[in-house]
Parts: sequence; structure tokens; C-alpha cells
Amino acid sequence: MTRQDPLPPETISLLAWYDRHARELPWRMRDGERPDPYRVWLSEIMLQQTTVATVEKRFERFLSRWPTVTDLASAELDDVLHEWQGLGYYARARNLHRCAVAVVENWGGRFPDTENALLELPGIGDYTSAAIASIAFSRPSAPVDGNIIRVISRLRAIEAKMPSNKRLVAEAVRPLVPRNRPGDFAQAMMDLGATICTPKNPACSDCPWIGCCKALQQNAVGRYPVKTGKRQRLKRFGTVLWLVDAMGRVAVRRRPEDGLLGGMIEFPSTAWRDTRWSGAEAVAEMAVEAEWAELEGCVGHTFTHFHLELDVLKGTARPGARLPDEWRLVLPGDFDKEALPTVMKKVVRFVQAAQES
Ligand code: ADE
Repeated sequence: MTRQDPLPPETISLLAWYDRHARELPWRMRDGERPDPYRVWLSEIMLQQTTVATVEKRFERFLSRWPTVTDLASAELDDVLHEWQGLGYYARARNLHRCAVAVVENWGGRFPDTENALLELPGIGDYTSAAIASIAFSRPSAPVDGNIIRVISRLRAIEAKMPSNKRLVAEAVRPLVPRNRPGDFAQAMMDLGATICTPKNPACSDCPWIGCCKALQQNAVGRYPVKTGKRQRLKRFGTVLWLVDAMGRVAVRRRPEDGLLGGMIEFPSTAWRDTRWSGAEAVAEMAVEAEWAELEGCVGHTFTHFHLELDVLKGTARPGARLPDEWRLVLPGDFDKEALPTVMKKVVRFVQAAQES
């Protein structure tokens, strides 16, 4: 191990805090255990878009189904997508599978151990490559995400706004990374951001950096990271068809592989555009013969870049009516076998609530 002395006092105090307060998480090793790169990678991909609490509940189940990267590489993509339900965008799950295949085909089933080689793999960006390199392979890398930007912007009172503050944060972290425990240091920053240095009401009195935090010295912790002007989230509108046949089956279709919710199952919908559809417009657009009734209210769902409002038209297909070839009919009791994204599950609950009222 390369020596690095003296360690900065911020590093020493954060690691000492981590030794006492590290969260026990299923993908973390206990003292002295060697991290399994597959577990580290899987947890980091899951955590890209979902909370620690959700990943904690789902991690072991995923692992018991596919205990190694080789098992995952030989899994059916549909099974992986199904297991990924509720864990965020499906593009991530598809990349997860592609990445497993690449590790098996190009690296003999062992993850590469440098940040640059990891970056070449599907679904692995700057943050994830640095996280895996440091946690799984003890490389002196420092992942920088929104939480770490907050913690370090406060520690050093970095005035830059997003997105230029990211580079400054990365530069500020680099000299703090200890060569002997880079993975612990990265995870200590994550835990500090999650439990102490929170966006609102940070618990500064419990912080290992209470004596050196520039933002606290300025009595201005809430000022950092400095915000840009508020951006309005875009709004989109669509109309979903809830088309039922004589057997009570409901029409669904698969979304295109590319793009948002790629490859997932949805109730047929108009395009999602920036103005609301009238019922008549939606019926004309979808061109399916049925008696349609507009349900009162709408389904709202917020994606990363926009907020979606879906109106719902409910109709009964005439016996023998022809539906577009790519539509299928599924009994509501079988919805849990389909890769329905959260927004479509909300549609199911919305229609069921309307039926009960
Ligand atoms: N968020 C992202 N990666 C994490 C990790 N390894 N531990 C805790 N929170 C995280």
C-alpha cells in the first residue's frame, strides 16, 4: 500500500466517525472482508435511481436469483426487467444485463479494476466507475454525486453553482482521499450526506467536520451548494386507453426499446405532449372502435425531466373488434406478471378506485 502522510485532519476525523457510525448495509463488507465487485457494482447501479431503503429491501433477493455476474449474464432479459420493477428506469436494467454480458465476454467474468476500464462498460458513468474503483478495488478515486457536492461545498464554502461546482468539488476532494481506505472514505462521505449533512436541517452538532466546516463558520450552511435559479419542470399530457374486452381483459402494449421506460408494458396511450388532449382528439388519434367514457380526474407522475398528467378513457371493445397487432389483452389478475412501470401501476389504481366509487 502506498504511504500518504500526513493524512489531512478532515480525512482522519471523517474515517474515525465512519468507524463508529457507518450504516450497516447489505452490500457493505464487515471489517477485513474483501468486497465482492459484483455486489458493489450491483448496489451502485441500483442506488443510481432509488433510495437506500428500497435497495436494502431488494438487493438480497436479486442476488439470490443471480448470485454471480455470470449467472446474471445468462439470465433472460425479461426476467431481469421483471425483477427490476420499482427500481427505476428500465434502461438501467437493460444496461445492467448488457454490462454483465460484457464482463463475462470481455473480462472472463471478473470486473476490471480501474476507473477507466469500468467507464467503458454499459451503464457505468463517472460516479459509478469512481465508486466501484474505490470501494471494490481500493483505487484512490472519489465519486462525486449530488450528496457529495453538498457535503464538500459546505466544507469548503464553494461558491460556484451547478454544474461548474462539480469540477471544483472533485478537485477539493482529491487531496482528502486516503490511499489506504479510499472506499471507506467515499462511503463515509455518502453516509455523512445521508445522515448528518442533509439538505434541510443538517445535524451540525454531530458532524465530525464541525471544527473545520467553512459554511458553518459563516453560519450559512443552508446557502451551500449555491443554487441556480429555479427551473420550471416541464409538463406533459397524455390520454391512456383502458380498453376492456368481454372477458374482462385489458389492452396493453410494449413501449419501444429506445427511450423513456423502453421495453416496458403500458396501457395504450396517445403521445405525451405539452398540451392536454381532449377526449375527442385522443379517440381520433388512437382509432380504436369502442364506446369511450372519460374518467374524472387524472394520474400524475413525475419523471426526472418532466411531470406527466394522464387522462384515462375507459371503453369496452366490441366483440370481434380488431385491435392493433402489437396490443395484447391481459387479465387484471395477471398484471403482476407484466413489467408495468410505476406510472402505469398508478393508472391501474386510478381505474380501480373509479370503479369502486
Ligand atoms: N449511495 C450510492 N452508493 C452508496 C453506497 N455505497 N453506500 C451508501 N449510499 C450510497
